[in-house]
Amino acid sequence: MTFKRHTVTSALPYANGPVHIGHLAGVYVPADIYVRFLRLQRKDVLFICGSDELGVPITLRAKKEGVTPQDVVDRYHQMIKNSFEQFGISFDHYSRTSSPVHWETSSEFFKTLYNKGVFTEEVREQYFDEANQQFLADRYIQGTCPHCGFDAAYGDQCENCGSSLSPSDLIEPKSMLSGQPPVLKSTKHWYLPMDEYENWLKRYILEGHQEWKTNVFGQCKSWIDQGLKPRAMTRDLDWGVPVPLDDAEGKVLYVWFDAPIGYISATKEWAAANNTEWEPYWKDQDTRLVHFIGKDNIVFHCIIFPVILHAHGDYIVPDNVPANEFLNLEGDKISTSRNWAVWLHEYLEEFPGKEDVLRYVLCANAPETKDNDFTWKEFQARNNNELLAIFGNFINRAVVLTHKYFQGKVPEAGTMFDLDQQVISRLEQYPDQIADSLQNFRFREALIQMMEVARMGNKFLADTEPWKVIKQDEVRVGTILNISLQIAATLAIIASPFLPRTCKKLQDMLNLQDLSWSDAGNSNLISAAHQLNKPELLFERIEDAQVEQQIAKLEASKAENQTVEVSTSKAEISFEDFTKMDIRIGKVLKAEKVHKSKKLLKLQIDTGLDQRTIVSGIAQHYTPEQVVGKQVTILINLAPRKIMGIDSQGMVLMAENSDGTLSFLQPDQEVNPGGEVS
Ligand code: 2FM
Ligand code: ZN
Repeated sequence: MTFKRHTVTSALPYANGPVHIGHLAGVYVPADIYVRFLRLQRKDVLFICGSDELGVPITLRAKKEGVTPQDVVDRYHQMIKNSFEQFGISFDHYSRTSSPVHWETSSEFFKTLYNKGVFTEEVREQYFDEANQQFLADRYIQGTCPHCGFDAAYGDQCENCGSSLSPSDLIEPKSMLSGQPPVLKSTKHWYLPMDEYENWLKRYILEGHQEWKTNVFGQCKSWIDQGLKPRAMTRDLDWGVPVPLDDAEGKVLYVWFDAPIGYISATKEWAAANNTEWEPYWKDQDTRLVHFIGKDNIVFHCIIFPVILHAHGDYIVPDNVPANEFLNLEGDKISTSRNWAVWLHEYLEEFPGKEDVLRYVLCANAPETKDNDFTWKEFQARNNNELLAIFGNFINRAVVLTHKYFQGKVPEAGTMFDLDQQVISRLEQYPDQIADSLQNFRFREALIQMMEVARMGNKFLADTEPWKVIKQDEVRVGTILNISLQIAATLAIIASPFLPRTCKKLQDMLNLQDLSWSDAGNSNLISAAHQLNKPELLFERIEDAQVEQQIAKLEASKAENQTVEVSTSKAEISFEDFTKMDIRIGKVLKAEKVHKSKKLLKLQIDTGLDQRTIVSGIAQHYTPEQVVGKQVTILINLAPRKIMGIDSQGMVLMAENSDGTLSFLQPDQEVNPGGEVS
């Protein structure tokens, strides 16, 4: 079916932390490539996103930081929005779910479903924290996983074995607010009876969308085959859109009910700002709705949201949901809490002007069909050996030689040899092949094909050697360069979804404007006598020192975390093992922040035996002034380690509270430095 317009969304990031490369590779880079490709095809396309600002994840962050949820979302919304903009993710509109339009839209949506009798009202028992007088969201309950025995599993999922749980599955559940066992208490909620939509879902997905990516289709099939249960669309929480009913005090819409509706609210805002209609983008059967998301969002976008849209009755449902798997970093799972990530805002600062390099590497290595790994060495290699050595080198030679031999004017193509014909006919075929890969969400494949065009250009110049031929045959050189410039012009189009800033420069260099996808592959795209602009280098070498610095930064973050990491269950040790540890009381003499680290303090400690330096991951809990003079407990025979270039000789022992705050272990009366702990 051909569509008249395209509504493309990418997952609304939670405004509880900055964006990292995992988000980019999984969602935003592929979505942006796709949208740019559609725009080049002159399609009517709307690209929507915004910050997800409601629900439990935000309240957890606020609690951890000791600030209000509003503070958290205000800070991160701005930060995320800015870094997407700087990185070149070309949303038509980036909104936020705290916007009045969104509250109104999601509230109305709920009301419509309620009035149609879609929801079932049920009173069920749920965990309640008596000390805090509040019902506990699944994420606020921790206990032992019944499957693997991990003792810090959450009420909705065990992060150790990946099992999906409900709070009643946990052994010895505890409230994360008070640390106390919660009690069961009755509460009323409005449920979406997913079971009633099973047949519709079977028709919609299992019969109607067998073309979906296998990872997506497989997950949907397994959910549907297991049988769907009613799911509560409301929560007892004080941070969210209030349930718009009389008997719903203290209740808000479930974040997974309101967040996808955020795509619709954002469309309304965009339409109002652009003096146009929002409804065709959501209600017209000629519109293709595509959601770009990560694999953890599949059930919400492929099953729950479509049921909500279908139950409403006025809306189209997603035509495709090309979800990606996860990206790891240097062999480890990306983790916000362990600071094991490459943060977009930091990358933008540390690699100015190199946005396209990251886009390229994340696309080349995208977790399209399975989890993948990002390494800084690969980042460097792909820049130096592919972007610089192939793409950049080809363009540079073609443009520089045209300036050198023809004053920057595109020369005429003379007699064509077999090699020339072959190159031209391959050039003509590539755009359709690449379009086919892009249309089917195979972005890595499309990128490889695009680079084959650059490779072909590079090889053509190497084979024809115009710098040698120029001595005998200027006309032949004109033909070679004419063909090379046709390749360059096609590259300026087909590479632009992947490398938009680079292609903007390339189009400026070639002095071409308003190119569209249908121009690509044309062997006469750039006409003879057309004047080129001055050559400019498209890529720079990335040196070893730059990537080594990034690797060192990650190592430092690993070390920082080890200083405060509290393991949840440790194997039994012998008394002898215990006596190997030399634990003593010391006194902090001096304290200072470690340069470029948010978490570390450098402490000068009197151990009674000597004065030594210990680096400790407590800077987010204590200022240097607060710790000077304090008695502390230290493990003094821990092997010395270099942390951020400082030799750390021992470890200060800290106690961690359930909310992550740290406090010193101290004797309850003054003990002389050097006093042994046994
Ligand atoms: O997983 C997440 O980061 C969610 N904030 C995604 C929401 S997508 C949509 F439904 F809004
Ligand atoms: Zn488990």
